Amino acid sequence: MLYHKTNAEIELMRESALLVGKTIAEVAKAIKPGVTTKELDTIAEKFIAANKAVPSFKNYKGYPFATCISVNDAVVHGFPNDIPLKEGDIVSVDVGVYKNGFHGDSAYTFAIGSPGEEVLQLLKATKESLYKGIEKATAGSRVGDIAFAIQDHTEKKRGYGVVRELVGHGLGRSLHEDPQVPNFGKRGSGAKLKEGLTIAIEPMVNLGVKEVTYDEDGWTVRTKDRKVSAHYEHNVCIKKGKADILSSFAEIEKAEKENTALNSSYY
Ligand code: CO
Repeated sequence: MLYHKTNAEIELMRESALLVGKTIAEVAKAIKPGVTTKELDTIAEKFIAANKAVPSFKNYKGYPFATCISVNDAVVHGFPNDIPLKEGDIVSVDVGVYKNGFHGDSAYTFAIGSPGEEVLQLLKATKESLYKGIEKATAGSRVGDIAFAIQDHTEKKRGYGVVRELVGHGLGRSLHEDPQVPNFGKRGSGAKLKEGLTIAIEPMVNLGVKEVTYDEDGWTVRTKDRKVSAHYEHNVCIKKGKADILSSFAEIEKAEKENTALNSSYY
């Protein structure tokens, strides 16, 4: 069942999506060697509450935290924990908020200091692939056009591994709605996109192999070869000609540039 939103509903979704970006920016300001991901989770949870919203992930299918924070070889759904971050780590921060009846859901991967040129190139290409996917998110295209654009930019052109087990998704009154939005696939395949459909596009791209394993916690997804993985996520509304990006990285990227512990040299 595909839910096409009215303009009024889209504006409410934009509010939720923008709050997610502001929340990730608050987290970005605090990232530095020595800080724990549990401390970052607390910052996000307090900021969401202060903005009269609810963290979408907490208690979703039993997920126990407000955020997913996935470090290095953790791909997504990492549990915030008490391990201090260190120079050279890459940190994916994934946040969802529920406000005015609608969810926002974005993610961004940060580099602390110098993880090495190979890793910075992975971050750059993964973020670029998100925008390549968004370019295809227009009325009349198909889900497979988005999927192909992401896979082409990362796996086909650069040899990275695109995760198959997890995919992007419709987003609205529920965190996960139809359609599924894979990061791999054939051009011209899948559901046709119509105006008002709102989706989360979220490439998860591994430096090495595409295969993943699950930790004992039942949530944390990790690369099988234990090489690092990157994750970026935007929320977009399908329009004619050009997608309307409901979320924003503007505040996140500003915080990334201003925080001297973070590396923003890769774009
Ligand atoms: Co998502």
